[in-house]
Amino acid sequence: MTDLSVEVCGLRLRNPTMLASGVLDETGKSMLAVAKAGAGAIVTKSIGRDPRVGHPNPTVVELDHGLLNAMGLPNPGIELYAEEINEAKKSGIPIIGSVFGGTEEEIADLAMLMERSGADAVELNLSCPHAKGYGAELGSTPERVESICRLTRGKTKVPILAKLTPNTSSIADLARAAERGGAHCIVAINTLKGMAIDPESRQPILGNKFGGLSGPAIKPVGVRCVYEIYEAVQIPIIGVGGIASGKDAIEYMMAGASAVQIGTAVWTEGTGIFGKVCKEMSKFMKENGYATPRELVGVAHPARR
Ligand code: SIN
Repeated sequence: MTDLSVEVCGLRLRNPTMLASGVLDETGKSMLAVAKAGAGAIVTKSIGRDPRVGHPNPTVVELDHGLLNAMGLPNPGIELYAEEINEAKKSGIPIIGSVFGGTEEEIADLAMLMERSGADAVELNLSCPHAKGYGAELGSTPERVESICRLTRGKTKVPILAKLTPNTSSIADLARAAERGGAHCIVAINTLKGMAIDPESRQPILGNKFGGLSGPAIKPVGVRCVYEIYEAVQIPIIGVGGIASGKDAIEYMMAGASAVQIGTAVWTEGTGIFGKVCKEMSKFMKENGYATPRELVGVAHPARR
């Protein structure tokens, strides 16, 4: 099989696939299972300072081409979750700790605690579209994105990944701000804000009314965002949104991603998705004369051709 190993902002990955935050990452044991299935790295659930129950049920709607979720950032709090990270680290692959908070300071402090808990990098959730006071509510202006990244940079040594929202007029501006603030990498995209209504009951289906759309339906949006970000910043990009095949991953890499995250397809297809995507990537690379994944990055841009 082709050597798929990549290096992204100092993290060495055996292949470019990573588990996206929010699926099968509640416990150390489930993360170990994902590692065993072949993921190159794991992003944890988004973790806050204190335990949090999340939004009321229903929290997920299955649609024809994706999932609509409004989990509401449920988590046990950083102190308890540290045990899960410890367990997940037995996998030997990079564990990236996702954090969210209600202020710039809280996010930076949580990133510091995540680093102390053993995370190899931190992913800042600046993009959850449905949790009041968190995520995209802080991450929608370049000024705040820059100051969150700068504060976090001052309190951590591990690589900082800024996960950005597509629910904005210019994700490239947000990416530039993250880079100015000292982020080592951009993760794009989080879910698209959406809703579903049940015609019989005339009610929104989700307990929170609004949620985030993920899966195949959002892949063209994700690819477009990565393409725009690649032209705006020098730091690496990790692509996420609707990846379920080797060709999906390659599309993101040609748009400018150095690695990809998979979430919804893990939910719909199980952990075998990592092996499947890698196998299909290898086949494409062999058939099309690419020796390393690096050679794919950004080739869809005129300047790289
Ligand atoms: C959640 O746990 O509510 C989803 C997180 C996100 O959309 O960033």
